Amino acid sequence: MRLLVCGGAGFIGSTFVRLRLGDQGDAVTVLDKLTYAGRQENLQDVLDRIRFVHGAIEDPLTVADAVDGCDAIVNFAAETHVDRSISGAEAFIATNMQGTHVLLEAARERGLRYVQVSTDEVYGSIESGSFTESSPLIPSSPYSATKAGADLLVASYFHTYRLETVICRGSNNYGPYQHPEKLIPLMILNALAGDPLPVYGDGRNVRNWLYVEDFARGIGHALGLGQPGEAYNCGGPDECENLDAVRRIIEWAGTGTTHGGGTRSAQGHTATTTSASTGEPSGPEMAYSTGLRAARGRHAPPPEVRLPLQRQRLLRAAAGEFAERGYAAASAASIARRAGMSKATFYAHFSNKLACIVALVDRANEVVAGAMAKAARSAGITDAAARIHAGTRAYLNAIAEHPEFARTLLVEIVGAGPTAMAKRDQGMQLFAAILDAENAAAARRGLSPRFASPYDSYAIVGGITELVSRHVRLGEPQNVLELGPVIDRLIGGVLARGT
Ligand SMILES: NC(=O)c1ccc[n+]([C@@H]2O[C@H](COP(=O)([O-])OP(=O)(O)OC[C@H]3O[C@@H](n4cnc5c(N)ncnc54)[C@H](O)[C@@H]3O)[C@@H](O)[C@H]2O)c1
Repeated sequence: MRLLVCGGAGFIGSTFVRLRLGDQGDAVTVLDKLTYAGRQENLQDVLDRIRFVHGAIEDPLTVADAVDGCDAIVNFAAETHVDRSISGAEAFIATNMQGTHVLLEAARERGLRYVQVSTDEVYGSIESGSFTESSPLIPSSPYSATKAGADLLVASYFHTYRLETVICRGSNNYGPYQHPEKLIPLMILNALAGDPLPVYGDGRNVRNWLYVEDFARGIGHALGLGQPGEAYNCGGPDECENLDAVRRIIEWAGTGTTHGGGTRSAQGHTATTTSASTGEPSGPEMAYSTGLRAARGRHAPPPEVRLPLQRQRLLRAAAGEFAERGYAAASAASIARRAGMSKATFYAHFSNKLACIVALVDRANEVVAGAMAKAARSAGITDAAARIHAGTRAYLNAIAEHPEFARTLLVEIVGAGPTAMAKRDQGMQLFAAILDAENAAAARRGLSPRFASPYDSYAIVGGITELVSRHVRLGEPQNVLELGPVIDRLIGGVLARGT
């Protein structure tokens, strides 16, 4: 079979690709955007045997190129982290819903078979018993809502166009190559580092655990044997409370570390007790304890992988602590606790609280400058004013997507003292330099030179920073984009001065 596997560089997709190349001898094209969750390294051992297309499923041209010559589409591509969907659902709507629509259209135009990889989270929570495929869809987070929306769209393509669609809903997967933001790898990493193991709420949520190869095999069966128009639940042989799942990791790791119950938010998470249903075409094979052992080798990454991840988590926790408690009240211990790590791990990364906030500002500068540079380069915008608008919009978008940066950058920094302030200024100069470079390039092409003054760029960035700062102090950092009209006026003012 010639397969287009979307999201094949992720956790489950890469496992599926490896199985299909080995078991079935399929010809595989992987289409993957390589978001933070996708890594080409997940496919390293098979890269020379597949065609890899780097791109987004919501881009019809990329999809048309990738799907060329394929018999079927299997769609794993998704934004998958519940907490991230709660902080901002935009990417979830674009990938999980719009992307699915683009793929369905591609399948419809070419008459291809289509498998949608979905999740039991679309059913929401249940007090007792198991979900079946005819249970109502009651998603409880933006993640599961977008997955449910995509499932309904897939079903509609079967009913409306008789497209050969099959939906496969898996329970909680675990195994090699899973991103360490998810429960099991996070706990394993913490256990191996001797850090505390934080769990959601009281840890009494019951989950069904499915070893990733079992799910991948189930999806393969659905692809080959599934009835068009059907949905199949896919569950594992083990069900246990989160706390128990974590306890078994502690036993297995043999570190004697304790869990820190109640340190993570339970918002939007479901307590599911899905099990393999009647419609599931192959039985799962791997029990949780055996699967853990199989996952272990891959969950002990070398320092060059582990340390940046720890640092990232500490920075996220620091941003949260500074935002909620202020610079003065946050301590190294509280930041470490929030990150689910020990104080020793904090000090292994930062000499003190100030070093941590400086690192946070560096990271924020990096994110914002990257977004601005990308927008300023964006194809098709040749007019200097339009490029400035695009750059400043990107600046805003970046801080809207990372409110924690906005807060720390623009408010708490003041409390952190001169080093952090100096970093903030460096950041602003960097943003201004990007705009200046754009202006200079525009001027060289004979476009209006009136934007070429460094002062103007700096004024725009500085003005925006002040505005956002004021807005953030009022406690609504998530609404910085509403400042759009004010910013337009600000930019307009600078532009007018040049005429
Ligand atoms: N992990 C679980 O426990 C679980 C359980 C049941 C169902 N699922 C579903 O299985 C699928 C895969 O989950 P996973 O855990 O492997 O996720 P993952 O986050 O590890 O991988 C997702 C992959 O999709 C890619 N991607 C994201 N947005 C894209 C876009 N717009 N265009 C192209 N590629 C894009 C990412 O780069 C990544 O490689 C998802 O649809 C998820 O909803 C996951």
